[in-house]
Amino acid sequence: MKKILILNGPNLNMLGMREPEVYGHDTLDDVEALCHEKGREQNLKIDFRQSNHEGELVEWIQEARGLFGGIIINAAAYTHTSVAIYDALKMLDMPVIEVHISNPKEREEFRHFSYIELLAAAVIAGEGVQGYVQALEKMSELLKA
Ligand code: DQA
Repeated sequence: MKKILILNGPNLNMLGMREPEVYGHDTLDDVEALCHEKGREQNLKIDFRQSNHEGELVEWIQEARGLFGGIIINAAAYTHTSVAIYDALKMLDMPVIEVHISNPKEREEFRHFSYIELLAAAVIAGEGVQGYVQALEKMSELLKA
């Protein structure tokens, strides 16, 4: 069974109460449960994590080598700022899928640029928390190909 690392960046621990008009009412625990359910269906083992700290995310990405078949990442605000996360992902030889709950391209201009999309095999944005489910479907396809 392939293992997939799902990483969530800053403020995503506040899902449910954070700007529900943008991010909806589901909590991060709800998203994790959704991912485990989809993972079981796709025969993928899910390791689901969140951090508010850029360095911790970088360390988790570094440690992923050899342990995971792919990474799904919602780097949240670090999407638009973090060369460090980009560099860490660049070292991996596994598919990276970028997810966003909202569609950053349709929001403030400072959200339009993504470091992660420069290396992502796919980007799923604006689909709400179902974007994580779609990312797992896409990951499953990529790993079969
Ligand atoms: C987000 C979009 C980012 O611009 C923002 O900083 C987030 C969440 C999303 O899932 O829609 O924290 O990644």
